[in-house]
Amino acid sequence: MNITMMQFQKHGDDRGALVVLEENKNIPFEVKRVYYMYDTTPGEIRGKHAHKKLKQVLCCPCGACTIKLDDGKEKAYVRLDDPTEGLIVEANIWREMYDFTPNAVLMVLASDYYDESDYIRNYEEFLEHVNGEKS
Ligand code: TYD
Repeated sequence: MNITMMQFQKHGDDRGALVVLEENKNIPFEVKRVYYMYDTTPGEIRGKHAHKKLKQVLCCPCGACTIKLDDGKEKAYVRLDDPTEGLIVEANIWREMYDFTPNAVLMVLASDYYDESDYIRNYEEFLEHVNGEKS
């Protein structure tokens, strides 16, 4: 499956580093919501859902975690461990996040407000939604 990674420009000088994220510029949608997860319990798997319409950009500005993406046919794995990298997750992709380092902060920029009706939280339902069949 196609993975779209983004490389953010790093503004660095002897004081440190800075990354800028702007809607409809280096983030390819209008950003309605930002959230982040941290203090993730060791061994925990987060996510385990897909969205019907929502688009997201995932970035680990601190620490690292692994993202599993599944389009219903193929799976892909991305280690997010660089504050200058982002991962685009389109709609209708099952995602799981795991192997968080203790200091990891996983930041998510989302194209819409929180809406539980946009979630598919059951994997069989997800397969049916994307493939039109159970498997
Ligand atoms: P949840 O969807 O379980 O996180 P994960 O990405 O691991 O699936 O969200 C955890 C809790 O936070 C849940 O009670 C819903 C709430 N929540 C909001 O209220 N707004 C949000 O934007 C998000 C992402 C979650």
